[in-house]
Amino acid sequence: KKKVILDVDTGIDDAIAIMLALASPELEVIGITTVSGNIDLESATKNTLKVLKLIGREALPVFKGALKPLWRSIRYAKEVHGDCGLAGQLAELQPGEPSEVDAGTFIKSQLEQYPGEITLIMTGPETNLGVLLMQDRDLALKFKEIIVMGGVAEGRGNESPVAEFNIAIDPEAADLVFHSGAPLTMVGLDVTRKALLRKTDIDALTASPDIKKFVDQVTMEYRQRFLAINGFEACLMHDPLAVAVAIDPSLVKCIHRYVGIETESRYCDGQTVCDFDGRWGKSPNAQVCIGLDAERFIELLTTRLNRY
Ligand code: BDR
Ligand code: CA
Repeated sequence: KKKVILDVDTGIDDAIAIMLALASPELEVIGITTVSGNIDLESATKNTLKVLKLIGREALPVFKGALKPLWRSIRYAKEVHGDCGLAGQLAELQPGEPSEVDAGTFIKSQLEQYPGEITLIMTGPETNLGVLLMQDRDLALKFKEIIVMGGVAEGRGNESPVAEFNIAIDPEAADLVFHSGAPLTMVGLDVTRKALLRKTDIDALTASPDIKKFVDQVTMEYRQRFLAINGFEACLMHDPLAVAVAIDPSLVKCIHRYVGIETESRYCDGQTVCDFDGRWGKSPNAQVCIGLDAERFIELLTTRLNRY
């Protein structure tokens, strides 16, 4: 079993990623840390606690992290995830309380207790780890593995023409993470754009009615926007795919390359520049996912959701 810490900014797909992780026997999730991203830190934390309550896992500790990016001003993604971050869902559910310990202290304590054993899966801006690395660079060497949902190696961004949201929000943090020396896998838009949960997949779920309803409703507006552009209803499973890669790395095809993070550009801040052909002669710092067995991914996701 992998010992996992999830670092989330709970919006729609983070919520489903948490559900996937906690239904998967391959992972032992030891705690969830939260960060400002899709939504403010307070809401991201509440949403996380609500999702845990929905699935009956409220005993799992949640640790609050960074209120804002390292240096840049706050930006959210309410147009994607709604004002509360969960598209108006779970509004009446009373969340539990987060731990009094903060995210950084928790992550650090676990690395010290289990050196070489912790897998960190980040599905929001990378600020929490960025803060820790600013204090102590060597901490990175204590991870077993870091899996990042973020970036795009080839093609368009989704926050700017070239940058993906999680990296664009806090490029300086991402820069620290990508240059930390930790074994890192980048699950970017190259593959997450192929990770489509269709309306028909949701209709076919045999999970308990509460869970099925939640998955259906939390993705509804997103699916409608997708329908208007693509002609069929689906929701992109960016964050669940990062969790799935921890469960079964054979779902993706990766190439080991150097990825630089643009932090000083007029137009390209937050771009993840992948040196495909080794032109810079730098040592690779990331396993970059470029191919996905989408069918097998959706099969894994829906089978696991059906356990609830
Ligand atoms: C990422 O940004 C957020 O909107 C999603 O939760 C995901 O983590 C996709 O770019
Ligand atoms: Ca996210």
